[in-house]
Amino acid sequence: MVNIIETKNLIKKYQDGDSTVMALDNISMSLPVNESMVIIGTSGSGKTTLLQLLGGLDYPSSGEVVINNQIINKLNDNDLSNFRNKTIGFVFQFFHLQDYLTAKENVALPLLLNGQNQESAFQRAEELLKQVHMEHRINHTPTKMSGGEMQRVAIARALANDPKIIMADEPTGNLDRANAENVLDIFDEISKRNGVSVLMITHDEAMADRYEHVLHLDKGKLK
Ligand SMILES: Nc1ncnc2c1ncn2[C@@H]1O[C@H](COP(=O)(O)OP(=O)(O)O)[C@@H](O)[C@H]1O
Ligand SMILES: [Mg+2]
Repeated sequence: MVNIIETKNLIKKYQDGDSTVMALDNISMSLPVNESMVIIGTSGSGKTTLLQLLGGLDYPSSGEVVINNQIINKLNDNDLSNFRNKTIGFVFQFFHLQDYLTAKENVALPLLLNGQNQESAFQRAEELLKQVHMEHRINHTPTKMSGGEMQRVAIARALANDPKIIMADEPTGNLDRANAENVLDIFDEISKRNGVSVLMITHDEAMADRYEHVLHLDKGKLK
């Protein structure tokens, strides 16, 4: 396998009342195994739509999506959900943590939902929290954390099922510059250590400068 991500002539149209929105217009792209990429573009350029198609959260109108050697646009809902579970870890702008659970419980949750026993799930959660430098906060709830700390817990959770790719939609959009840089440092560390590809959306050119692979989207097209 040469590429972890590959698309061919990807098109996504949304029906909006009487009009059709061409959210993605013929996107062919690829990302080599073990490498990371940032998707950049202004608001409405199609970044989230592309990430959703690559992560198997939605189907394209036409074209092909190949992730980790598997054509995913032909999978049914159930197979697609299994694919996501095994292959992708998602990170969001607003963290999506459970406020009533501790850091350790938040990270262990995907493992417990997969049927892993509590002792080994908590042990793995602690290891993952160490990887994101949150070992001093394992028993804190998100309500007692800064935004940067919450995002680090969310990254640890995304790693729980040992994904091939972390997909992050504006993960630094709600953080100040120092915390944003810190999140990117952690992405670099985990991609080196775990061989995970990171696919990150931003609209911040300064963030994109750190990446060798940059996909520019403009009104649904590659620039
Ligand atoms: N569910 C939807 N229904 C209709 N139009 C949508 C939907 N989702 C996104 N769009 C439109 O598709 C375009 C791309 O949106 P999006 O992928 O969210 O862009 P970005 O993440 O770059 O801001 C925009 O014009 C947006 O309004
Ligand atoms: Mg978006």
